[in-house]
Amino acid sequence: MKYLSDLNLAGKRVLVRVDFNVPLDDTKKITDDNRIKQAVPTIKYIIEKGGKAVLMSHLGSPDGTKDLNCSLAPCAQKLSELLGKTVELAPDCVGPVVEKKVAALKDGEVILLENLRFHAGETNNDGEFCSLLSRLGDIYVNDAFATAHRAHASMVGVAKLFKEKCAGLLMQKELDFADKALKNPKRPLCVILGGAKTSTKLAALINIADKADKVIIGGAMANTFLAATGLQMGKSLVERDLFPQIIKLMASLARRDCKLYLPVDFMVGPSLGAKGVARAVPAQEMPADMMALDIGPATSLLYKEAIQSAETVIWNGPMGAFEHEEYATGTHSLIEAIGGSHGLTLVGGGDTDAAIHTMEMAHKFSYISTGGGAFLYILEGKTLPALQALA
Ligand code: 3PG
Repeated sequence: MKYLSDLNLAGKRVLVRVDFNVPLDDTKKITDDNRIKQAVPTIKYIIEKGGKAVLMSHLGSPDGTKDLNCSLAPCAQKLSELLGKTVELAPDCVGPVVEKKVAALKDGEVILLENLRFHAGETNNDGEFCSLLSRLGDIYVNDAFATAHRAHASMVGVAKLFKEKCAGLLMQKELDFADKALKNPKRPLCVILGGAKTSTKLAALINIADKADKVIIGGAMANTFLAATGLQMGKSLVERDLFPQIIKLMASLARRDCKLYLPVDFMVGPSLGAKGVARAVPAQEMPADMMALDIGPATSLLYKEAIQSAETVIWNGPMGAFEHEEYATGTHSLIEAIGGSHGLTLVGGGDTDAAIHTMEMAHKFSYISTGGGAFLYILEGKTLPALQALA
């Protein structure tokens, strides 16, 4: 795979896939611009080398219709601010009008194409759509790590049509950190997984079980683990169909002498909506009419101690329903524990990322990945389709 420094960009139209799939509020204001900020080094590199940057991205899931609620206009404005120069938003991502605008670009200028997913051809990896997009560049660069698990037109089909292509600086940084943490980690390697659904993380867990020295489980995932060992979990979310796989996984961790940490207490409540009723209970004493909604204080201490001796920490998924203040403490104390670690710390997944930024703790982590699904894909040990297309 090539990198930006391997190519001569001067005077070239450089078609760059970025991931500007950022969260917007009701007024279409960007609530977290991290993904746009992270794409800036690649864009600056291209224009400083005298290239013309033609940027393409998706935003949301407009499913092949021109839904202006998913327009990239707020991203064009944000990028103009970040670059200190005007970034025009093209009215579409393909077609004669767009081709004319791209042809008129001067060296060092930047244009953002409108949402790729306004066309069904993007998610279908449609050949004709790929060929229309490919007319907009002499060189193809993929910097959209967060979309790298999607075999879509702009990620795969278009890349295959280019002779001159490479990974952007963000893609390179993401892959470097993933390699450091997973391929040849300093040990002990501690992997922390949380979030609501065990089913979406089981493949990652099975792959990691072969590599990690410690595995820490939180969030509703932990309910399923504890219930599989026979504990009563009250009204908590439990995925019973996964019990056989979880029991097998626990046995294989034990065989490898990989330490498994599960909650010893929980913050519970009758439902997520009920306010002012959260209380801590030991895991063995879960009331039948309550749900586990966060890890408890004893678990936070236990996890902190387990993290302290790790040389590499990989984290994905919150410890509880942290968007509700009463159930945020477990995730917040985990952020403090990982932030205080002396080892390499790598975090992925949109939810956890938001919590770290709210606490202004981002600088305490070695790297916070821009990827959610793509990060999990790497944890699952699979090769990202976008990287195959760049090879
Ligand atoms: C993400 O936010 O994970 C990426 O931008 C991919 O978006 P998608 O899940 O809508 O394909």
